[in-house]
Amino acid sequence: MRILVVGGGGREHALCWALKRDTPDATLFATPGNPGTAQLGTNLKIEAMEVVKVVEAVQEHHIDLTIVGPEAPLATGLVDRLRAAGRPVFGPTQAAARIESSKVFAKEVMRRASVPTAASGTFDALDPALRCIRRHAEPLVVKASGLAGGKGAVVCTTRDEAARTARAMLAEDAFGKAGHEIVVEQFLEGEELSVLALTDGERIVVLPAAQDHKRLGEGDAGPNTGGMGAYCPVSIATPALLERVRREVLEPTLRELAARGARYTGVLYAGLMLADDGTPYVLEFNCRFGDPETQALLPALPGLTRHLVEIATGSWRPERTALDATRAAVATVLAAAGYPDKPELGAAIIVPRDVEPGTLVFHAGTYRDPEGTLRVHGGRVLAVTGLGDTVAEAARRSAAACELIVFQGKTYRRDIGWREIRRSGAGAARG
Ligand code: AMP
Ligand code: GLY
Repeated sequence: MRILVVGGGGREHALCWALKRDTPDATLFATPGNPGTAQLGTNLKIEAMEVVKVVEAVQEHHIDLTIVGPEAPLATGLVDRLRAAGRPVFGPTQAAARIESSKVFAKEVMRRASVPTAASGTFDALDPALRCIRRHAEPLVVKASGLAGGKGAVVCTTRDEAARTARAMLAEDAFGKAGHEIVVEQFLEGEELSVLALTDGERIVVLPAAQDHKRLGEGDAGPNTGGMGAYCPVSIATPALLERVRREVLEPTLRELAARGARYTGVLYAGLMLADDGTPYVLEFNCRFGDPETQALLPALPGLTRHLVEIATGSWRPERTALDATRAAVATVLAAAGYPDKPELGAAIIVPRDVEPGTLVFHAGTYRDPEGTLRVHGGRVLAVTGLGDTVAEAARRSAAACELIVFQGKTYRRDIGWREIRRSGAGAARG
């Protein structure tokens, strides 16, 4: 089988790694890939957003299955083009991907399907948005409706801050077109959870829940980032809770999308806020695998590839409604100095050959210079996944490997998985 993975980040390296693990005979390609995917297959010099060129490459290289990593090419209709060309592809169509690419659309779908989510209003003009904000309780959340690279949701402590944010989005073009429509939303308290599910639009297989760490600093302090680390499984995500998420979130959302002529296939990612009363409120949907959740999930989930192939080819008949993690996994992101605002690029990276037993190093923002030296090429540079019998053990392995990797400005959190470790009591000895 010849498989193409579209994208070039840590998620895509993890996808290639899992494909190779599950189907060692497969021939892998990536567009554009990175130095990590280059160790597993062939990188083609095509950006993920060059959708016409991606379709040409699929035909030229006789690709049997395409897996699309990032949201942007999904929102641009890459899947529609590949389907029109008769090529099996894993991922939603442009219409179905609106569940991520338009927060206004997602809110409307959730309202119609009675999916638990924060009360909200949507606005495309400043004055009505400001009137809503003036009456709103504090804190509150202002979100650009369109794709904003994970930076489009602003949690505002005060109405003044919310008004400034709304003005920046609607009147000052701070987020380009993505901010020309906004959602003003009630602030929800609770614990966040990422629940990803495979689906062909009808059947659903829920993956083990993961938890992302969005803040830059330890103890969840500092600015929001694309994600500084993730772990799975999460013990508060009991089978009963995941069943509730299926019934109250995933099934009604898929039904409503299908009713609108936008049947969803691929992986649906629900970013949830678990309220104190146990209700799973949807903060956002993503139309793809999470990054860095994927770097933790896939190593803990052998045999995933079969599902992706069968969903793409329409032959999926899963025997189970959920997949269980066989190990605990903790993925720690090594970021560049200055991330997220102004990452410093260019530093040479040294990854020891045998970093640490029970760990995997996934490339994200790296490149090889003409002399073959590995260098920093993006804000999130590597994701280092530790595996273990418990989250605490996986976290220790990940942290030990992170120590051994060298580059100037290396920035990372040493507390990925801290909530779970605290729950298990395993962190108590370390205070
Ligand atoms: P989003 O892109 O919508 O997932 O938002 C990014 C982050 O902002 C989330 O992971 C939450 O930490 C936070 N957030 C978004 N919406 C809310 C909300 N309604 N209440 C509290 N926090 C939120
Ligand atoms: N980890 C958050 C995301 O993939 O959007």
